Amino acid sequence: MMPKITYVETGGTPVEVEAEPGQSVMRTAILNGVRGIVGECGGQAMCATCHVFVQRVDGVDPAQANLPEMSDDEDEMLDCTADPRQDASRLGCQLAAGTHFDDIVVQLPESQV
Ligand code: FES
Repeated sequence: MMPKITYVETGGTPVEVEAEPGQSVMRTAILNGVRGIVGECGGQAMCATCHVFVQRVDGVDPAQANLPEMSDDEDEMLDCTADPRQDASRLGCQLAAGTHFDDIVVQLPESQV
């Protein structure tokens, strides 16, 4: 089974896509034409335009899931997001399909820049 990512736009219909193993939430959005993720820095945790709010991971609350710890870079970048940071905030480029999750649901912020 391919990993699955569901992108939820504010006021929009959730978009569900299959992700290549190893590909990030950011890259998968770009490859599938999901609007709402920019990914300006190409995944280096240096732009915060891949900001997402993680809602579910493998069917459970993100707090109970096995997402990787945030790096200092990610933590700092999340203080510079266009939409205010929340507890569920992560950089989409730092979450890899198949490695960190098999099935993830992310809410997209209203703006990335
Ligand atoms: Fe730039 Fe994720 S793509 S921080």
